[in-house]
Amino acid sequence: MTDKQEDREESLVRMVLASFESTPDPRLREIMQAAVRHLHAFLRDVRLTEAEWKQGIDFLTAVGNITDDRRQEFILLSDTLGASMQTVAINNEAYADATEATVFGPFFVDGAPHVELGGDIAGTATGQPCWVEGTVSDTEGRPVPGARIEVWEADDEGFYDVQYDDKRTGGRAYLLCDDDGGFRFWAVTPTPYPIPDDGPVGAMLAATGRSPMRASHLHFMVSAPGLRTLVTHIFVQGDELLDSDSVFGVKESLVKEFVEQPSDVTPPDGRDLHGRSWARVRFDIVLAPST
Ligand code: BEZ
Ligand code: FE
Repeated sequence: MTDKQEDREESLVRMVLASFESTPDPRLREIMQAAVRHLHAFLRDVRLTEAEWKQGIDFLTAVGNITDDRRQEFILLSDTLGASMQTVAINNEAYADATEATVFGPFFVDGAPHVELGGDIAGTATGQPCWVEGTVSDTEGRPVPGARIEVWEADDEGFYDVQYDDKRTGGRAYLLCDDDGGFRFWAVTPTPYPIPDDGPVGAMLAATGRSPMRASHLHFMVSAPGLRTLVTHIFVQGDELLDSDSVFGVKESLVKEFVEQPSDVTPPDGRDLHGRSWARVRFDIVLAPST
């Protein structure tokens, strides 16, 4: 590149940066100027053509057009670019042996039913029964009685209840830990499912040879006064999708053994499963202090 060309490009960057110099909010100024610096570095790095610029604009327009109050394609884009997980990492700094956080996803619903300890969160969700148990403690090893646990998951067809049109509730609940910080409940064994891939993000994944599949998982959100709210999942050991999760949510520490139990093994609560096999998993959760 000639010096003249380089001067033109750099002087444009300086002009755009200067246009944000008198932004009254210093944080907004920092964010806008950093965004401009990185955006221009990207454009100059790949030497973006005008046709490619137009394609990018059309892509973002399609992302906006498909987004409504039930479908958030921008979050899906953030998820599939790893931006959601990077934001989670930045905002959930490693603290002692606190459990790692992962991506929230679009399928949490406020107002899920309360299920007593030992109850079944499956509701309308079909799948293999799975006994889930564990404890919630702080980083000093003290149990957290009454910790609130929200859990949600897809059924064995790969759909969350909110993806059906019939207003069903299943595969979600909240529970409150006992006096020892313990919890236990029935769920269904998680199975893999694709993120919604019938829109522009799905087209981007297809064009780049990436799969829309998420590794099998069960979502948790755990909260208690004075402790950092934890949004996470547990993943199924042995799942072949662990290394290719479409939203980069898998953390080694969150991969758990879901132990298969033949139908002749009696579950911990003596439940009659009518000859079905089942699975069990343990998840001990450690919450960091809130800052
Ligand atoms: C989920 O796990 O529910 C999810 C996360 C990110 C994008 C789509 C779905
Ligand atoms: Fe999910």
